Amino acid sequence: MGRAKKVVLAYSGGVDTSVCIPYLKKEYEVDEVIAFAADLGQGDELDKIQKKAISAGATQSIVGNLVKPFIEDFAFPAIRANGLYQGKYPLSTALARPLIAQRLVEIARELNADGVAHGCTGKGNDQVRFDVTIGALAPDLKLLTPAREWGMSREETIVYGEKYGIAAPVSKQTPYSIDLNLLGRSIEAGPLEDPFAMPDESVFGITSSVSNAPDEPEDIEISFDSGNPVAINGNQLDPVSVVKKANSLAGKHGFGRLDIIEDRVVGIKSREIYETPGLLLLIRAHQEIESLTLPSDLLSTKFELERKWADLIYQGFWFSPLKEALDGFINHSQTNVNGVVRIRLHKGNASVVGRKSTTNSLYIPDMATYGNQDKFHHKSAKGFIYIWGLPSRVWSLVNKTKN
Ligand code: ARG
Repeated sequence: MGRAKKVVLAYSGGVDTSVCIPYLKKEYEVDEVIAFAADLGQGDELDKIQKKAISAGATQSIVGNLVKPFIEDFAFPAIRANGLYQGKYPLSTALARPLIAQRLVEIARELNADGVAHGCTGKGNDQVRFDVTIGALAPDLKLLTPAREWGMSREETIVYGEKYGIAAPVSKQTPYSIDLNLLGRSIEAGPLEDPFAMPDESVFGITSSVSNAPDEPEDIEISFDSGNPVAINGNQLDPVSVVKKANSLAGKHGFGRLDIIEDRVVGIKSREIYETPGLLLLIRAHQEIESLTLPSDLLSTKFELERKWADLIYQGFWFSPLKEALDGFINHSQTNVNGVVRIRLHKGNASVVGRKSTTNSLYIPDMATYGNQDKFHHKSAKGFIYIWGLPSRVWSLVNKTKN
């Protein structure tokens, strides 16, 4: 493919991506490195990160606020899909990667770059998500992945950086590897590598411990319109505000912590701690309003497809024909998903304590009641069960005569 002349690098301000800048220029003979840092609501000081890229040798340093598309175009579809990888992890990190990669490709096009680059290592999922997305959106662009190839230890990387004026990270730094955005916090490595070791309270950043959570429960109401959470406690909120509000309510009550063993794309089992208060709360409420408004066959088929959808997102296939087709199914299913879910937040729990839908509830009190006002035709049950149970009776009759 020949060398790339102008490359857009996904930049976080950390040691690895900072070292990528001089490394790309020296070892890959790239003429110009353009750094791109994404604001995903992680609360970083992005102006400092922007300057850091320039002092590391970037020709241009771009910061993009992606919070709105992140929530509207990535988080909301994930809520509609009840996206939980392996039934547990709500994909808070995974959802950000296709968006960053998409923006990287757009910037490359705008600036006439012939390559893009990232600083992911060869053990994680993020490299998969970046590579697969970039390949899907721009198969012609050169993809440079120095951190996967340089074979330097962390110490060697720091020493390399220092030669180019990249300051070593402050020593009192956390032993954990942390990824943060508006959807949550992912924490791994350090003492957590022992899967039996209990996470120290210092691991957590955006949720209360059960002991610090309020003693009194708090009941909240989340309203859905076509499967999208649109209001909390009756206040209409835009998507970004819904997520922020859900984060603060659930986080305050200590809901949304996960401690799991997860299967990475590259075949490694890893121990992960997550704090995803708002996202988990919204998915739980969404599942509940679906159970009231969708018929059983649609619910069970959607449930099977949700698992597939989450696998695709985890594994890097946000932009793929199967994901698009599943979105078609999921979005179509959401037209009738309207109503309100009441949730009690208390000491690490978010328990559903009520649900209603004035327009789409399939719960018919006259049918469900055990009282005497009911409209159910009891006698018809007999004929229905005669036919429903026919295969069981046939099986028994045939196999009993054999013995
Ligand atoms: N295992 C999660 C994922 O693949 C999160 C990884 C986050 N990275 C981190 N440095 N903690 O989506």
